[in-house]
Amino acid sequence: MKKATITGELPGGFIGDLGQVFQGVVEGSEVALKISRHSGEKKIDGWRRELEKSKALSSLLPDTTAAYFDMVEVEGYETFPAFSMEIVHGYTVIDRKIGCLDAGCYRGLVTERTVEQLRSSLERAVSDGWHPGDVQYFILGREQKLNGRLRKCGDLILFDFSMWGIASDGDVDLYVQKLERLVGG
Ligand SMILES: Nc1ncnc2c1ncn2[C@@H]1O[C@H](COP(=O)(O)OP(=O)(O)OP(=O)(O)O)[C@@H](O)[C@H]1O
Ligand SMILES: [Mg+2]
Repeated sequence: MKKATITGELPGGFIGDLGQVFQGVVEGSEVALKISRHSGEKKIDGWRRELEKSKALSSLLPDTTAAYFDMVEVEGYETFPAFSMEIVHGYTVIDRKIGCLDAGCYRGLVTERTVEQLRSSLERAVSDGWHPGDVQYFILGREQKLNGRLRKCGDLILFDFSMWGIASDGDVDLYVQKLERLVGG
């Protein structure tokens, strides 16, 4: 397995229940590292499954996802399952918490274009047989290249596919209506 080293923290990297996300380096490249909070053999399968799902969705939805790389062994966390992916520079939206987020940092960033990106991505995923679960995404705070494409400020990038295909907490219209409330806000 490739070796990874943690080089720093990422804004929001400690939000999750199951994992923590750090900035790191693998073979000289800067990446984000998603590391399980729980160690042990049994946890590895779940982490591998999440990486495989993330890769599948990244090729199905190349415009609204980051690139996902490898299972890695993180220095100092050798017994904790981990994988690497591109770093996203954006503001996190967790659909189930959207009602209580501080809309301030999204001001001006969320437009009809952002909403359309959510709608078309989720529709595409659903028509491919996916059940989106615990939907989470970034709104980009600046222009950046992701998955080989230049993305603009305000563009939407889906992430954390751990519950996709397992649980579903809404239909596409419901997810879209919630984001729509942030347009022009
Ligand atoms: N590729 C990334 N680049 C930058 N920051 C990220 C990236 N992936 C995740 N993060 C940050 O880390 C936080 C936690 O990530 P994520 O939701 O994937 O883990 P998790 O919630 O612990 O996982 P789970 O939902 O499986 O418990 C996100 O809210 C986000 O702020
Ligand atoms: Mg999460």
